[in-house]
Amino acid sequence: MEKTIDEKKQGETLVIPSKAENNKKLFIESYGCSMNFSDSEIVASILQNEGFNTTPHLEEADLVLVNTCSIRDKAEQTVRKRLEKYNAVKKINPKMKVGVLGCMAERLKSKFLEEEKIVDLVVGPDAYKDLPNLISEVEEGRDAINVILSKEETYGDISPVRLNTNGVTAFVSITRGCDNMCTFCVVPFTRGRERSRDPQSIIEEVNDLWAKGYKEITLLGQNVDSYLWYGGGLKKDFDKASDIQKATATDFAKLLQLCAEAQPKMRIRFSTSNPQDMHIDVIKTMAKYDNICNHIHLPVQSGSDRILKAMNRLHTRQEYFTLIDNIRDIIPGCAISQDMIAGFPTETEEDHKDTLSLMEYVKYNFGYMFTYSERPGTLAERKLEDDVPEDVKSRRLAEIIELQLKHSEYRTKQFLNTTVEVLIEKESKKSNQHWSGRTPHNIVCVFPKGQFKVGDFVNVNVTDCTKATLIGEAIGLSKNN
Ligand code: SAH
Ligand code: F3S
Repeated sequence: MEKTIDEKKQGETLVIPSKAENNKKLFIESYGCSMNFSDSEIVASILQNEGFNTTPHLEEADLVLVNTCSIRDKAEQTVRKRLEKYNAVKKINPKMKVGVLGCMAERLKSKFLEEEKIVDLVVGPDAYKDLPNLISEVEEGRDAINVILSKEETYGDISPVRLNTNGVTAFVSITRGCDNMCTFCVVPFTRGRERSRDPQSIIEEVNDLWAKGYKEITLLGQNVDSYLWYGGGLKKDFDKASDIQKATATDFAKLLQLCAEAQPKMRIRFSTSNPQDMHIDVIKTMAKYDNICNHIHLPVQSGSDRILKAMNRLHTRQEYFTLIDNIRDIIPGCAISQDMIAGFPTETEEDHKDTLSLMEYVKYNFGYMFTYSERPGTLAERKLEDDVPEDVKSRRLAEIIELQLKHSEYRTKQFLNTTVEVLIEKESKKSNQHWSGRTPHNIVCVFPKGQFKVGDFVNVNVTDCTKATLIGEAIGLSKNN
């Protein structure tokens, strides 16, 4: 899953191998961004030591946990439907306990216990280590809540269980929280202030993943380019650090270098980059190391300077173009993808046209596009009227998507009759005779299985393509094996 919301993964149940000594059953499902899916692995890992084995069957669970997303209203409505479903099952199995994790837990806090009586447990994203205590309280018949946001918590010392995955690609969380305060976004409120994880523990995790056979990692954070380790603590407190702490600090470019050198054959990706925080050093580091994939997810949200300002995105359209030009100069052919919001308050037809013309300039490889959804507590909600009618938002979104599809096709076609390196991840969904994997540019590629296996790096001649997928013939293992 690349970056934020992968529609196919929404509601996925996490199942890991059982421990014989465990006799309680945990059903855990996740919604939202990659960070939530990664956090659920941490939660499962903590509860594995508390007598819980995971189950894919809701009906037999002793404990049901749902890791939730607040980014748009629709995401919260989906979770509410799931809570209704759990409630129905609870009527048959009254011993079952239900807990809400993640961003909705943080946003709604005790409202869940007071108003939505079906919930026994509410745990915010920084409080998962308190789960054993909270569960004991629940087992004794009391409701339990911990939504305290932390200055330090990065879960750096917990090694997440990953055995439910394809065994080839994994997420490695490097920062938590976000300090950017984009006016539309609920994340700074639900995930707290920005803090970075100790690079030592990140490298250890990368080495451990390589030893277990993983071939690709994605360094994860709401704003990875803002990564800064100076011995622990909040990013905003860096000014107060000692001279020696400042001199020995690790920034994102340095972290990328450390990861790339620690495992020179491990493919390295990262997500998400905020344009205002992406420095030239990061682009140069990407160019220097073959194993850092040439793809940057670089959300812009709007092409209009006026709207960018109202969103508190701290760059102009021209500065974004300069960044794109630098990327293309230093890493020729680098894939670039976007997030876009249609219908932010006060957006005019003119602003919308600016978005389309910005897309025309960049011609993104792919994107995630949304209509604006007003989120309670954000600056946009407090200061601006949600004044673009829904039908206008939808029409503008449709135009943005249509243009993106055109550009995706254009970019994908550029790979026709070339050889690309594909890391095999799984069987193709459409045919059990084909493998499916991704190129360094993050384009899906399918090809006949031949003698190859999951986890192989294979050179593939691209003979055909759809708008977003390459189709080809494997010609042999790549030199990366
Ligand atoms: N920096 C984060 C952004 C998280 S939100 C990251 O890791 O990607 C993911 C995307 O959701 C944003 O880039 C934005 O395009 C969209 N989004 C956020 N808040 C939104 C809102 N209120 N309405 C519509 N889309 C929103
Ligand atoms: Fe949200 Fe902006 Fe941070 S979109 S996650 S506040 S970079």
